[in-house]
Amino acid sequence: MAEMENDLPVNVREYQELAKKALPKMAYDYINGGAEDEHTLRENIAAYGRIILRPRVLVDVSKIDMSTTLLGYTMASPIIVAPTGGHKLAHPEGEKATARAAASCNAVMVLSFGSSCKIEEVASSCNAIRFYQLYVYKRREISATLVRRAESCGFKALVLTVDTPVLGRREADIRNKMVFPRSANLEDFMAIDDHDTEGGSQLERFARETLDPSLSWKDIEWLKSITSMPILLKGIVTAEDARRAVEAGVAGVIVSNHGARQLDYAPATIAALEEVVRAVAGAVPVLVDGGIRRGTDVLKALALGARAVMVGRPVFFGLAARGEAGARHVIEMLNGELEVAMALCGCRSVEEITRSHVLTEGDRI
Ligand code: FNR
Repeated sequence: MAEMENDLPVNVREYQELAKKALPKMAYDYINGGAEDEHTLRENIAAYGRIILRPRVLVDVSKIDMSTTLLGYTMASPIIVAPTGGHKLAHPEGEKATARAAASCNAVMVLSFGSSCKIEEVASSCNAIRFYQLYVYKRREISATLVRRAESCGFKALVLTVDTPVLGRREADIRNKMVFPRSANLEDFMAIDDHDTEGGSQLERFARETLDPSLSWKDIEWLKSITSMPILLKGIVTAEDARRAVEAGVAGVIVSNHGARQLDYAPATIAALEEVVRAVAGAVPVLVDGGIRRGTDVLKALALGARAVMVGRPVFFGLAARGEAGARHVIEMLNGELEVAMALCGCRSVEEITRSHVLTEGDRI
C-alpha cells in the first residue's frame, strides 16, 4: 500500500485514532483501557496540562543535544519504550518490530514479561539497548529462568514491576472477556491453551493463579542474588517507598502507576514525581511514565527531576497503525517535539532543563 508522506499522522493522538480503526475492539480496549472509573487514566494526561512552561529567550539554540545517559548507557534522547505486553495483538511481528523501531532511534526498549515474542527472538532481531521487565511467579524458579535467559541474551537491566501484587480491575477487559488470540500468545510465560472466557478477563485469571502477591522488600535481596543486572523498581509513587528502594540498593526508581491500569485514584505520575525525586535525593536516577503524549510532556518531566521517561500506549498505537514504521515514527515524532520544545525554552541540552522551566499548580498556590 503506497503511503504518501503527507498522509502520515502528525502526532500521537492521530496514531491513536488510526490504531482504533485498525484494531478489533477487544485489542484496542485492552491497550487503551485503565482501571475502574479511569480517574487516574484521565489524570495522567490532564496533570501534564496543568503544568505551564517558562520559556527563556535569546539563547543560541542552533544546536540542540537531546542525548542523555542511564546506567552508563548513552541514549539519543531521554525517551524509552515502556514494557507493554502482547505486541502481536497490534502487529504480527510483535515485539521484534518494536525492538527494531527502538534500535533505529537509538532508544532503550524495555521488553515486557508479557512479550508475545520470545526473549531470544527479540534479542537477535536488533541491537537496541534492552532492559527486561519482570513479574515474580509464585514458582520462583520460573522467574529465575526468565532472568537468566534475559541476562544471557544481553539485556542490560531488570525492571521489576512492583505495583501488581494483584491485577487491577480493568473493566473493559472484564466486559469483553478479554483473551489473547493464539496468534498473540504470550510466548514465554503463559502457554495459553485455555480459551474459555467464562471467567471474564483471561489476564486477570492468569495473574491471580500464577503471580506472587506475597512479594515484599526482602525479595529484592533474592533477585539481586540471582542476577548481576542492575535492578530498577517500576511502580513507586511515594517518598516512603522511594527511600526504601534506595535502601534496598536498587539502581533506579520508575515513578509509574502502570498507565493507570492498576489502582484507580493513585496519583497522576507527573504529580508524584517531585516527591520521589526529593526522597531519592540524587542517590539513583528517577524515571517516570504515564500520560506522556508530547515532547513538551517530556520536557516537563525532566524539569521536575526525571532522568528519562517511558512511553507505553503511544508506541503500541504506532505499531498497530503502521507496524515497525509506525512505532519508529511515534518515537521520532516525540523526539522532534522535544527538540522544538527545548529550543523554544532556551535549553540546548537536557542538563539545561531545570525546575525554573516549569510552573506547577503547587507553585501557583
Ligand atoms: C502496560 N504496562 C505494563 N507494565 C509492566 O510493567 N509490564 C507489562 O507487561 C505491562 N503491560 C502493559 C500493557 C499495556 C497494553 C499497557 C498500556 C501498559 C504499563 C507500561 O509499562 C507503562 O507503565 C504505561 O503504559 C505508561 O503509560 P502510557 O505511556 O501508556 O500512558
